[in-house]
Amino acid sequence: MKGIILAGGSGSRLHPMTLAASKQLLPVYDKPMVYYPLCTLMLAGIRDILIISTPEDLPQFRRLLGDGERFGVHFAYAIQPSPDGIAQAFLIGRDWLGGEACALALGDNLIHGDHLSALLRQAAANPAGASVFAYQVRDPERYGVVLFDEAGGVLDIIEKPASPASNWAVTGLYFYDARVTEIAASIKPSARGELEITDLNRVYLREGTLRVERLSRGYAWLDAGTPDSLIQAATYVQTIQSRTGMLVGCPEEVAFRMGYIGADELRAHAGSLHKTELGRILHELAEGQHR
Ligand code: TTP
Repeated sequence: MKGIILAGGSGSRLHPMTLAASKQLLPVYDKPMVYYPLCTLMLAGIRDILIISTPEDLPQFRRLLGDGERFGVHFAYAIQPSPDGIAQAFLIGRDWLGGEACALALGDNLIHGDHLSALLRQAAANPAGASVFAYQVRDPERYGVVLFDEAGGVLDIIEKPASPASNWAVTGLYFYDARVTEIAASIKPSARGELEITDLNRVYLREGTLRVERLSRGYAWLDAGTPDSLIQAATYVQTIQSRTGMLVGCPEEVAFRMGYIGADELRAHAGSLHKTELGRILHELAEGQHR
C-alpha cells in the first residue's frame, strides 16, 4: 500500500500566520506539523509516500523532507494547483499510484494512542473496500459526521451538517483499496466546488464496503487548523513528551522502531539535532536506554 499526505489548502483560518508559510510546516511544539501525519502513515507500515502541496509551498516540503532516506522511506512530490478538494489527491496521484491501494493522511491531523500501529496495520492490510476512523468531538459540524444505527452499523456520513445528528467525526486518515482513483474520478464537485472526501466515502458506503472504526477515548485525534487547535496540539505533544520522555510524531524514532533505519543511522540523526531535547531523546533511544 502507498500513502499520500495532503498538505495544501488555503489555511485561511490561520491567517495571517499562513499568508507566507504553509500551515503544515508550522510548528506543533517541537516539530513541523507534517511530521505527525507522516508518522501515522509510517506506523501503518507505508514507506512509499507522495506529498501534495501548493505550487508555492512544495519546495519547502522538499527542503524539509528530501527523498525520505533519513526516515527509511521514499518520498515523491506533486502540486495541487488550487484547493479543489481532498479527494482530488487521488487524481493528482493517479500515475504515481499506478493502480495500487492507498492511504491518505491530511497534513494537519495528529492521531496518537496505544496500539495505534496495530490498528493502522489492520486497516492497511484490508484488501477490499475502505477504512476510516471516527472520533467523538464537541464540534462535529466542522467535519464529516457519521450516523450509526442502534447496532453500530453506518447509516450515512454527512459533510459539515448544520445540525449534526451525532458527534462522531470522520478523522483525516483514510485507507482505500486499489479502485480509489477510478472512484475518485467518478465523483462530481460539490456545491462549494470541491471533490469531497465524504462523497468518495459514500460510494464505498453505498456498496457496503466502508468500515468505520470508532476510536475510543484512549486515543487523541487533533487537527491544527485553527489558532486554538494549533495550541492544543502543541500542548498535548509537550505534555506527553515531558511527562513520559516518549516522543510523539518523531519520524526518526518511528523509522527506528519499525526497523527502517538502524541504531547507527539513528545516532547520526540524533547528532544532527544535538542542540535539542529531541536529539537527546533520540540519542538515548539509539543507545538502548528507552524501551
Ligand atoms: P481544511 O482544513 O479543510 O482546509 P484548509 O487547510 O484550506 O484551511 P482553511 O479551512 O483554514 O482555509 O483542509 C484539511 C486538510 O486538507 C489540510 O491539511 C489542507 C488539506 N487540503 C488540501 O491540501 N487541498 C484541498 O483542496 C483541501 C480542501 C484541503
